[in-house]
Amino acid sequence: MNSEQVRKIFLEYFTKLGHTVVQSSPVVPLDDPTLLFTNAGMNQFKDIFVGKIACPYEPPRAASTQKCIRVSGKHNDLEEVGKDEYHHTFFEMLGNWSFGDYFKQEAIQWAWELLTEQYKIPPEKLWAAVHYDDKESAQIWKNIIGLDERKIVRCGDEDNFWEMAETGPCGPTTEIHYDWGEKFDPDQSALPNSSPRFVEVWNIVFMQYFRNPDGSLDPLPAKNVDTGMGFERLVAILQGTRDDYSTDLFAPMIDTIAEISGHRYDENDRIRMAFRVLADHIRALAFAIADGALPGNTGRGYVLRRILRRAARFSRILDIHKPIVWKLVSPLIDKMGPIYPELLEKAPVITHIIKSEEERFGKTLDYGIELFEEIADRVISAGENEISGEDAFKLYDTYGFPLDLTRLMASERGLTVNMDEFEGLMEQQRQRARSTGTFSVEHQKKQDWIKITDGEDSYNLCYETESTEAEIRLFRRLSDDKIEIVLSQTPFYAESGGQIGDTGKIYNKFYNLNVIDTRYEGEHIVHICAADNAGQSMNILENIRAHPQVKAEIEHQRRDAIRKNHTATHLLHRALRSVLGTHIRQAGSMVAHDRLRFDYTHYETPTIDQLEKIERIVNEVIQNNLPVSTQITSYQDAIDEGAIALFGEKYGSKVRMVKINDFSKELCGGTHIDSTGKLGLFLITDEQNIGSGMRRIEAITGLTAVHYAQSIRRKWSEIKRKLSATEDEVLDRLDKLFDELSDIRKKQEKLSDARAETTAENLLESALQIEQSKVIISKVTVRSRDELLKIVSDLEKNVSSGVILLGAVLQDGKVAFVCSVTEDMINSNNIKAGEIVRQVATVAGGSGGGRPDFAQAGGNNPKKLDSALKLAEKIILHKIRN
Ligand code: SER
Repeated sequence: MNSEQVRKIFLEYFTKLGHTVVQSSPVVPLDDPTLLFTNAGMNQFKDIFVGKIACPYEPPRAASTQKCIRVSGKHNDLEEVGKDEYHHTFFEMLGNWSFGDYFKQEAIQWAWELLTEQYKIPPEKLWAAVHYDDKESAQIWKNIIGLDERKIVRCGDEDNFWEMAETGPCGPTTEIHYDWGEKFDPDQSALPNSSPRFVEVWNIVFMQYFRNPDGSLDPLPAKNVDTGMGFERLVAILQGTRDDYSTDLFAPMIDTIAEISGHRYDENDRIRMAFRVLADHIRALAFAIADGALPGNTGRGYVLRRILRRAARFSRILDIHKPIVWKLVSPLIDKMGPIYPELLEKAPVITHIIKSEEERFGKTLDYGIELFEEIADRVISAGENEISGEDAFKLYDTYGFPLDLTRLMASERGLTVNMDEFEGLMEQQRQRARSTGTFSVEHQKKQDWIKITDGEDSYNLCYETESTEAEIRLFRRLSDDKIEIVLSQTPFYAESGGQIGDTGKIYNKFYNLNVIDTRYEGEHIVHICAADNAGQSMNILENIRAHPQVKAEIEHQRRDAIRKNHTATHLLHRALRSVLGTHIRQAGSMVAHDRLRFDYTHYETPTIDQLEKIERIVNEVIQNNLPVSTQITSYQDAIDEGAIALFGEKYGSKVRMVKINDFSKELCGGTHIDSTGKLGLFLITDEQNIGSGMRRIEAITGLTAVHYAQSIRRKWSEIKRKLSATEDEVLDRLDKLFDELSDIRKKQEKLSDARAETTAENLLESALQIEQSKVIISKVTVRSRDELLKIVSDLEKNVSSGVILLGAVLQDGKVAFVCSVTEDMINSNNIKAGEIVRQVATVAGGSGGGRPDFAQAGGNNPKKLDSALKLAEKIILHKIRN
């Protein structure tokens, strides 16, 4: 039975039993901060389990084949992968769910029937494990299924209690294990969960509790069933192999690796492990990238980077020193693309990202391996068996070597790593990062709000109107001339979703407050105001108390410019996706009145052609004057309609969708213009890499764009005028100028070399000869520091024993000293260049130092140059003569 049939039978079986077949959710969870990657089929149903949303399926049952990655957090198999036949970073989970519908009996019975009747696994091969406290399940296994009591093992929380993450839904489980026979463990008392003879196939969770952050358990609103069967393990059983990697699921990758490396999968344990690591890791990488993740330096990105580096390192075991992981994308997609079309759609991006990341890491890896071998040799020849935390940290910090690689390579040579020391250094690094990455702000403790009038506040009118009557509800003083106001209702947009807060005024006959920013504080919309004149602010509170009725009015022109830029941000996002690919994800944005900034994930620098194309697409939409509309809808309907959603949006809740005709649909809470024509013009002003796989585009619209174009034209005219060139001649003229400049520089260098040579010759002639040694201490005239250095180096060539100390006043008026001392003078006369320059520099009002054989220093007082050199001469001669 091939893997495609195994999937099909599973889904058909549960469909017949009234389950709705649900698509796998992405491996990159959309809106769950407790997870880096989707780790189980139940993840997408978490909100149903915890009662946040109602179950949309009738009857309340579902089934799926879910893409999972377990490489972080509570469920982390990364270190295990490769060592055995059945651990994976990426795997598929076959699952069926009951949301407060059927419970233990049906769940166990249906699982048993599917395995024994549909897949025809001999019943004698199957065992069950139950939780100690779960008598009911044990009874079902014994009395209803008829399983021999000896084959029902009882385990504790460690094996038979399942939790999604540190917090979240959880409950006791019963598992079905497959017995591979005595061959894998001759011990007659071998049991599931403790012997390699058994492999867990199916985990049936009775999802009844919620784990709180303090560790306590609360009952969930209903008793649910959550099952998960390891697809790869099942396929292996049905294909009669103990090794998942020998099934049709992995064959295409295993064959490709064999072809590239010239090794055979079954050669020996070491080689086998390398094959498995590669065949496994490509799946996690490809699926994660297809769902929008990218290798990077933090969080999810860093985990991906580690997986890729682990794969690259294992390729070295197969004697492959060139990027190979990317070559496994194509066999993987041939096999899995028909089931998971996102792989097909993203194939070029996946290949490109993996290849470029691998190329970058390759060199580092080879240096790192060399360094590691040196370290290991040193440890072993010193008769020790532990690599210091410092060495491991150096490999990590300087060579990007993941710790688990270092530990693995260490264990291959019988060594361990000092983890305490390593952790200590990591902590120090984190502290450093914290202290340099942030600065401490001394928060002024804000005063408490003063209530002005009673009633609800902050009714949001920002989409409907630009001015309204309102009542001041709350007042707070920020400083002598700044106050904060909360209104009963307001047209002001409070900063959110990247869009800056509105400005405007809040006024009546008695006072006038300039709103300089608007922000959210919890649910309150806070208007930050500067009183019209300072004196007024002193008695403003009484004034407001006496007259709380106001008019609130936003600054129309500024908001209008913000609207344009927000709509432009959506157009840019859409254009980026069509030019660079749909893997582009918005990573942040800033929409202001005078510009917009858009951060996005992408793995390489867009070409100028691509940027121009993006700009052109946006401007075409502007010219086509498409209508922009907003619509309140359910998350699911919006997504079904093809809307782009960002992280953090909850499905089930009502969302606001901004549509630009058919061109773009995005969930967004911002304010927009009603037709694209009003943007007038869109220009990209900057594009740059901001690190961690992220890039930033800055752009402008409307009159700001016109002003920008005009200022460029003005500068352009100025350039042409200064070069006396026409438009077509400018670049040629510049090239010529640069050529001329470089000729002049070369000539100058030659002259300066010649001058240095002459000066050196003269100095040499007038050198003071003391026995075998020469002492050259002099002021020289030079045009640059380089010239000074050149003289010293010319002199060095002709002084086999001696001291050279030159001082000069440079063009900027500063003093420079250079000193060179030969080895013999350092040793027998204790003359050190570093010390000498420090002394002379101190006299000339400066500082410096350096090595004993060569040092430089500077001073600020040219008048003291002569006396500084005199002093040095005295010291040096004294040392030589004594
Ligand atoms: N959530 C459980 C698991 O992942 C059963 O699906 O094992």
